[in-house]
Amino acid sequence: MAKSKAAKLHATRNDLGANVREVSVGALNATLSDAMDLTNSVRMAHWTVRGPQFAGLHALFETFYNQLGVATDDVAERVIQLGGTPDGTTQLVGEKTRLEAYPADLRDGLDHVKALTARYAALAKSVREGIDATDEAGDADTADLLTEVSRMLDKALWMLEAHLG
Ligand SMILES: [Fe+2]
Repeated sequence: MAKSKAAKLHATRNDLGANVREVSVGALNATLSDAMDLTNSVRMAHWTVRGPQFAGLHALFETFYNQLGVATDDVAERVIQLGGTPDGTTQLVGEKTRLEAYPADLRDGLDHVKALTARYAALAKSVREGIDATDEAGDADTADLLTEVSRMLDKALWMLEAHLG
């Protein structure tokens, strides 16, 4: 099974072994589809939020989706660097995301904060698993990239939870 997956990787002079790159591409692509899904959820929250905390949350959610935009770009580009193909199309994201579907009818600020808190926490957990998997596989650079993403997610989670008292 590992061989057939590794065979899908593009040729590269990167000296990491195919088995190592396969682990990393898997962890990165799992992060990519979840993070792109989360990006769209945060954008929905940015667009639809209403209530007394509108100004603060509208701006905070913009900061969040810009952070996620940087993270997804870095993650997808590392997939390519390692010989993989990013799971980056809308269809693949919809098929592969592990996050719960974001409700389109949310409006209240705290409802958005609670919905995003659950999804940031879920993604932060799986990214931490990706850090361990890629570190154990021997790809320190991917582990480092995912660690950077993890720090961003944890900080955003703190900012969301701070609204919940
Ligand atoms: Fe906007």
